[in-house]
Amino acid sequence: MQHKLIYKCLQNEKVTAFVKRQYIASYSRYFSGHENECRDMLESAFDVLQKSQENGLNKTKWNKAVYTISKDIFQIRNDSFWFNKMHYAYKTLIRPKKDYEAVSALLKGNIVHDFGCDGGFFSLELLRDGFNVVLSDVVDHRISEVKNLPFYYMKSPVDVGYLKDKIDTTIVKTVLHHIDKRYLATVLKKLKKTGSRIIVEEDIYGVPSFIRDASDKLISQKNFKEFASLSLEEQYQYCVLTDYFSNAVIYGRPDITFPFNFMSVDDWKSVFEAAGFTVQKCIINGFNNWKLTQNCQAWFVLD
Ligand SMILES: C[S@@+](CC[C@H](N)C(=O)[O-])C[C@H]1O[C@@H](n2cnc3c(N)ncnc32)[C@H](O)[C@@H]1O
Repeated sequence: MQHKLIYKCLQNEKVTAFVKRQYIASYSRYFSGHENECRDMLESAFDVLQKSQENGLNKTKWNKAVYTISKDIFQIRNDSFWFNKMHYAYKTLIRPKKDYEAVSALLKGNIVHDFGCDGGFFSLELLRDGFNVVLSDVVDHRISEVKNLPFYYMKSPVDVGYLKDKIDTTIVKTVLHHIDKRYLATVLKKLKKTGSRIIVEEDIYGVPSFIRDASDKLISQKNFKEFASLSLEEQYQYCVLTDYFSNAVIYGRPDITFPFNFMSVDDWKSVFEAAGFTVQKCIINGFNNWKLTQNCQAWFVLD
């Protein structure tokens, strides 16, 4: 885990304040009726993490703080806590449904591979709409509803050689920034070999290089404007902090790999093209206001 990098991001008051404000705003929107509790929980969480590091980077204190926040503030083991009930509904129903609506027109064929499926919430949405679904991940966190579907437990980050059957479309939803740069080209080339269309969702930064193509809708997003006003390094730090905070601290999943492999749209395009893909489409959504974690996001369609 890159403690040093996250520590550096946390030290940047401007970025941390922006991240915190985004969390408080989006959580207050979604957890309506619990606005004050959301504010208190998020402020305490940042406070506990920052206080644990007030005398400099200390990994032991860091890990202890993350554990305490997940256990005591977000109470991840308490299923009857209002936060967890509503959060579960967001994760299992609301987000997958909205994501599905956003990409369904881009799906090709009937066999879809959910690469880096995590719980399989998106797979379930595909299944409900009649697709044959294959899942894979380097961890096995599948919910019971998808346990009877074909699943490949990857033994290493580049263990993609299992795809012997025909796949029409592969969904790679917020997975690539979790793959170390050393492995990325190999993974993409192996996915390319399946002959399937690949649909990638990524958190992006590097706004100045693509703002030329950005629609009015994007520029009118308040968060997008503020994000775009940050320096490139600060935009990257924003991506790091939100990725780490959502997955490791709030969801209680510090076991996910965090190489923070975020890139600009132009850099992603170069990486995809180097792996042999043609980038058919790049849809920049920017900040979707219904998302709990507020990030600048894009979909890439690769053939
Ligand atoms: C942020 S989660 C996204 C999960 C899911 N795709 C979604 O949109 O809800 C990232 C997922 O990528 C998985 N992952 C990390 N490295 C991977 C790799 N090399 N190959 C496949 N999955 C990987 C993680 O285990 C985790 O489940």
